[in-house]
Amino acid sequence: MNRKYRKTVIAGNWKMNKTPSETKEFMTQLKAIMPKGRWCDVALCVPAVCIPAAVRAMRETRVGIGAENCNPNPSGAYTGEIATNMLTDAGCKYVIIGHSERRAMGETDADVNAKVLAALDAGLIPIMCCGESLEQRQNGVTAEWITMQIKLGLKDVPEDKIRKVIIAYEPIWAIGTGLTATPEQAEEVCEMIRSVVRKLYSSKNARAISILYGGSMNEKNAFELLAQPDIDGGLIGGASLVPEKFVKIIEAANQPTV
Ligand code: PGA
Repeated sequence: MNRKYRKTVIAGNWKMNKTPSETKEFMTQLKAIMPKGRWCDVALCVPAVCIPAAVRAMRETRVGIGAENCNPNPSGAYTGEIATNMLTDAGCKYVIIGHSERRAMGETDADVNAKVLAALDAGLIPIMCCGESLEQRQNGVTAEWITMQIKLGLKDVPEDKIRKVIIAYEPIWAIGTGLTATPEQAEEVCEMIRSVVRKLYSSKNARAISILYGGSMNEKNAFELLAQPDIDGGLIGGASLVPEKFVKIIEAANQPTV
């Protein structure tokens, strides 16, 4: 983290977990134990049907609610899809884009890019995910792969909007597996991502953008991961489903930074 230059963001990704009633219950529990300090921005990205309950429960708090996907088209014949203006109207502030679980369902870098542009147009903060598979890491192509995902995902994002984008580095082999990247492995890639943004934009923009780590981040390993200079927060799956664990990760963001 480096709070001098950029925001620290702790974001939960609920994936396909919790009903609207369970959402209400979770938010009540979270509010009761939420740290008072303002060390970081906190986001919870929840299933679409849980958004209204989450927004209602967290209205007076500093927790921003987000969606887990969006459709880049403004409206029309896209059965089952949700447009960005529907998300903002429902009270969303964030949207996760290009999660590896969605890419595995067929989402391409061009889809990711269209969604990032649509989200920015709507005033949403896109949390754009990237990450390599175990095979890619073992074959030594992590840097090339991630560079390509970042370049394609950010295509046509204008200079004056790049700082609104949050990038999440999520090695596929670390998601939901309990296999966390070591702080050094995660830092190496997050630093590399920042250098790609530096080349595409400028050092000032690269310094200002928040880059998160995701993949089995939990209440035990968060402190060490967040201590890395280029890891500006976390995108948290499993541990964001339990209020006590999620709060411990928020508390880990309260440490001196470089
Ligand atoms: P995990 O998921 O924390 O359960 O590994 C992270 C994610 O997929 O965003």
